Amino acid sequence: MAPVTVKKICCIGAGYVGGPTCAVIALKCPNIIVTIVDLNKSRIDAWNSPDFSLPIYEPGLVDVVKEARGRNLFFSTDVDKAIKEADLIFVSVNTPTKKSGVGAGFAADLNYVESATRRIAAVATSSKIVVEKSTVPMRTAESMRTILEANSKPGLRFDILSNPEFLAEGTAISDLFSPDRVLIGSLQTPEGLDACRSLIEVYANWVPKERILTVGLWSSELSKLAANAMLAQRISSINALSAICEATGANIDEVAHAVGRDSRMGPKFLRASVGFGGSCFQKDILNLVYLSESLHLPEVAAYWRQVVIMNEYQKRRFSKTVVDTLFNTITNKNITVLGFAFKADTGDTRESAAITLIRDFLSERAHVTIYDPQVEEAQIWYDLAEAIPDTPIEQIKKQVTIAPNALDAAKNSEAVVIATEWKEFIDIDWKAVYDTMNKPAFVFDGRMILNADALRQIGFKVKTIGRGEKI
Ligand SMILES: NC(=O)c1ccc[n+]([C@@H]2O[C@H](COP(=O)([O-])OP(=O)(O)OC[C@H]3O[C@@H](n4cnc5c(N)ncnc54)[C@H](O)[C@@H]3O)[C@@H](O)[C@H]2O)c1
Repeated sequence: MAPVTVKKICCIGAGYVGGPTCAVIALKCPNIIVTIVDLNKSRIDAWNSPDFSLPIYEPGLVDVVKEARGRNLFFSTDVDKAIKEADLIFVSVNTPTKKSGVGAGFAADLNYVESATRRIAAVATSSKIVVEKSTVPMRTAESMRTILEANSKPGLRFDILSNPEFLAEGTAISDLFSPDRVLIGSLQTPEGLDACRSLIEVYANWVPKERILTVGLWSSELSKLAANAMLAQRISSINALSAICEATGANIDEVAHAVGRDSRMGPKFLRASVGFGGSCFQKDILNLVYLSESLHLPEVAAYWRQVVIMNEYQKRRFSKTVVDTLFNTITNKNITVLGFAFKADTGDTRESAAITLIRDFLSERAHVTIYDPQVEEAQIWYDLAEAIPDTPIEQIKKQVTIAPNALDAAKNSEAVVIATEWKEFIDIDWKAVYDTMNKPAFVFDGRMILNADALRQIGFKVKTIGRGEKI
C-alpha cells in the first residue's frame, strides 16, 4: 500500500499547542483542510471571533489565523464530524499531572487522551492516521492502538504516530515556521513507515527534509520528555549556581557567559531566574520520575526529581530574600508584583513562579498589588484561589489588588518584585515609580532584566537574583 496523501486534518484540542500548530499547518499547506475541534465552546468561539480576540496570546498568531481562517482553517465544536472527515488526526489534548489515585502528583493524567481516542474509535467510518501531539508517557501509543482496535468498526486501520511538539510559548509561531527539528516516531513496519511518510509530506510543505527526523515510536515519546527534562535541568543548574553567587559576591551573568562560551555547551537556557514555570517542565519531569520508579530505577528517579526540588527551592529562596531584606517582616507592607504570566510574551499562567511568590507574601500577611500586561483579571483570581485553597477568595481579595499598569501598581508600595521578564518593565519610568513609593524603596529583580546601577542612582535599593551585592 502506498502512503496516503493527506487532504483533511482534524486536530482534537484547540489549546496552546493544537491551535498554533494546526493554524500554521493550514497556512503552509493551502491544499489541506484543517479543522481544529474542542469540547470547550467558549474557546472555539474565541478562535472564531470576528475581531480575532483569540483565546491565547502568541506573537504573530493573529496574522496566521487571519490569513487561513475560513480558507482552509476551521474551528469547531463538532468533534465527530471533523473526525469522520479526516485522513489524519492530531490528538493535542491536555495531559496534566494526576491529582489523585495511583501516581498522584507524578504520573500524567491520560483521561483526556483516552476520551479522544475512544471518540475516534466510536465515530470513524474510514481508516485514519492518528498522531500523538500531546506529551505522553512512553508506550501511550500502544494503549491508543488497543483502544482503537477494540472499539472500531471492522475493516478499519489505525496507524499511530508520535509527533511531539517542541514549540515554546511566546515564540510558538517562529518555532513552527522554522523548527529546529520535527520528530516523527512510528512502528518500523511497512504500514507504520507509510503513515510516517504521509506526515512527512505534510511538514515537507515548509520544513526542509533534513530537519524532519524519523525514529521508533518509543524513542519519539521519550525524546520529548528528555528534551524538557534537560532544558529544565539547565535552568535548575544555573539557579543553583545563582545561590552560590549571591552568597559569595560573584555575578551569575558573568558565570553564565563564561560557561556558555564553551561550544560544547552554548549560551542558551543559562539565565538565572526566580524559577521555571509553564505547563510542561515540571509535569514532564515528574512524569519521567514516575516512569523511572515504575521501571525500578530509583537513582534515576531521584536524579530528575532534584531538578524540581531545586526549582521549588529557588522560588522559596527568592521570597525569603524579600522578607529578610525588608527588615524581616512584610506584614501589612505593600508589595508590588510585576508580571503574573510564567514567562514574557504569553498570557499563560500555568505553574507561574509569580503564583508561588504571591502565595508566600500573602502568608506573611502582606498586601500585594499585581500588574501583568496580558493576563486577565479573572485568571489571576482563579489561580490564586487554586493556590490558596484554604482561604476564601473574598479574603484573598482583601489582601490583593490588580492594577491597570506598573506605575499604579507601585504606588505606596515598599517593594517592587519583577516576576516575569516582560520587556515593558525595562522601559518603565522608574523615576516616576520611585517618587510614588514608600521609602526606602526596594526593587527585587527576579529576572535580571533591570539596570540595577541606574535604579540605584534614582535612589532604589536593588537586589538582583544571582548577584551578591550588599545593599
Ligand atoms: N503548552 C506548551 O507549550 C506545550 C508545548 C509542547 C507540548 N505540549 C503538550 O501538548 C499537550 C496540549 O497542551 P496545551 O498547552 O495545548 O493544553 P491546553 O489545555 O491549552 O489545550 C488542550 C485542549 O484540549 C481540549 N480537550 C481535552 N479533551 C478533549 C476531547 N476529548 N475532545 C476535544 N477537546 C478536548 C481542552 O478543552 C483544551 O482546550 C499537552 O500534552 C502538553 O504537555 C504543550
